[in-house]
Amino acid sequence: MAATRNSGFDDPFYQPADQFFPANNKLALTFDDVTLATLFSEILPRDTQLDTRLAENLRLNIPVISSDMDTVTESRMAIAMAANGGLGLIHYNMPERQQLSEVSRVKNHVHGLIQEPIQVTPGQLIGDVLKMIEERKFAFGTFPVVDEKGKLVGLLSGHVVKPRYAKRKVAEVLTPRAQVHTIRQKELGKDPIARADKFFNEHPGIHKLLVVDDKDHLRGLFTMSDIERITQERNAQFKPARDAHFHLICGAAVSATRNAFGELDRERILNHVGALVERGVDVIAVSTAHGHSKGVGDTVRVLRGAFPKLPLIAGNVTSAAGVEYLADCGANAIKVGQGPGSICTTRIVAGVGIPQMTALYVCSRVAARKKVAILADGGITKSGDIVKALTLSQAVICGGIFAGCNEAPGEVIEIGGKLYKQYRGMGSFAAMKVGSAARYGQPANPTQKVAAEGIEALKEACGSVDRVLAQLIGGIQSGMGYLGAADLAQLRDKARYTRVSPAGMKEAAPHDVVELKTGN
Ligand code: XMP
Repeated sequence: MAATRNSGFDDPFYQPADQFFPANNKLALTFDDVTLATLFSEILPRDTQLDTRLAENLRLNIPVISSDMDTVTESRMAIAMAANGGLGLIHYNMPERQQLSEVSRVKNHVHGLIQEPIQVTPGQLIGDVLKMIEERKFAFGTFPVVDEKGKLVGLLSGHVVKPRYAKRKVAEVLTPRAQVHTIRQKELGKDPIARADKFFNEHPGIHKLLVVDDKDHLRGLFTMSDIERITQERNAQFKPARDAHFHLICGAAVSATRNAFGELDRERILNHVGALVERGVDVIAVSTAHGHSKGVGDTVRVLRGAFPKLPLIAGNVTSAAGVEYLADCGANAIKVGQGPGSICTTRIVAGVGIPQMTALYVCSRVAARKKVAILADGGITKSGDIVKALTLSQAVICGGIFAGCNEAPGEVIEIGGKLYKQYRGMGSFAAMKVGSAARYGQPANPTQKVAAEGIEALKEACGSVDRVLAQLIGGIQSGMGYLGAADLAQLRDKARYTRVSPAGMKEAAPHDVVELKTGN
């Protein structure tokens, strides 16, 4: 019979995590220190499943999260991440009100049924409507027309919203109610998107379908382009990560905020998270450099008490005791990583932190017992690192990989004919000055006496998140194919490791050739 199973000869060399890491317990290891052994496989990379569960009510379709950093994740990044099946964590280096709007932008992004469409009234002038479009930068020009009681009176088509009609009233040029296509809210059924899709199939040339209640009050709007985008998504392998109401999912980070007396500001934290929950936030990350601390634990406890069902991420830790502590406080997913980040200097400045693979192993064992997820945060520079991280965690958090993307905050800078974007640590002086000092347990207005734990840097501009994620996902699927893993649980189960020598590392990268094109 062909050798499709393990051969005993392999066992002393390629060991599963519970043998390999304890056997290497005198030396902390990171991604490049190890490599994974292949196994007999019947799994084609393209058939592998990448969905992952971070909490009872938080699932991602790909195990990738963008960091809560002010040069990585605001609404544009979070939309792109969720649209690809992952998650973005909106950073907190901004006024609380602004963080609320960032979350709203993600939650209100295309989701099929627009529940609060922008409306106009019959008495308005077309000139006023044009001004509103200009001021609010709307990319559309068709609006439902409602009277003062919210009753539908017609549809203002984009064809008549033109400067030449500026002096006319909406009432003069609208498409009257009798000619507007509508559907009753109660007829939408369990799958409103399928219902709208059917309508547009049956009504060629009609691009808007309005939703009304029994009293003909406007309750929503479908547009054909949104429905088309969503139906295409349904056929994609990695579907967008959406909530039960078909909105893209979105996370937001908070810190263990203190008041003027240095005490945890419970009221402020609760009010802000309450407001985030009202905006539809799907997960809160209590993000600090030292998660195994009283402030973080108390914050998690307060939030768990007030929002029993809200998925909570907390961190960062690198010890089993840290995971146990945060899990007992009520966190669902724990961020693991102290000092591996590409812009981090914690290990240099504070002399602490653990190389990532050893930290992940130690944390993952207690996490499994506590039934919490592990998020591998920082230090990931290539898809192979993600595959290794996922053998011990449920998802990865990346900053540097996404910081050069179009969707990251900040402008593109040209230096010597090359394009870059700014990327900085949240513990850098510049970021702490804007507000992230609490994350590093530093005073709100750090002076030169405070030790920065991050640097300011540049990342080469690297195009869209779609493109970067396509490459990362291709790599993850390839790794899973080599291990015969159909899904992430099997990847964790099947992984066998061995150490890599410096010569082995040299062998792993292109060598002894003149490189014409990079792998990207
Ligand atoms: P990568 O390697 O993806 O790392 O760029 C991103 C992660 O690094 C953490 N982070 C920091 N760590 N000092 C640190 O020691 C910092 O200034 C800093 N800023 C971010 C964070 O966990 C992030 O997700």
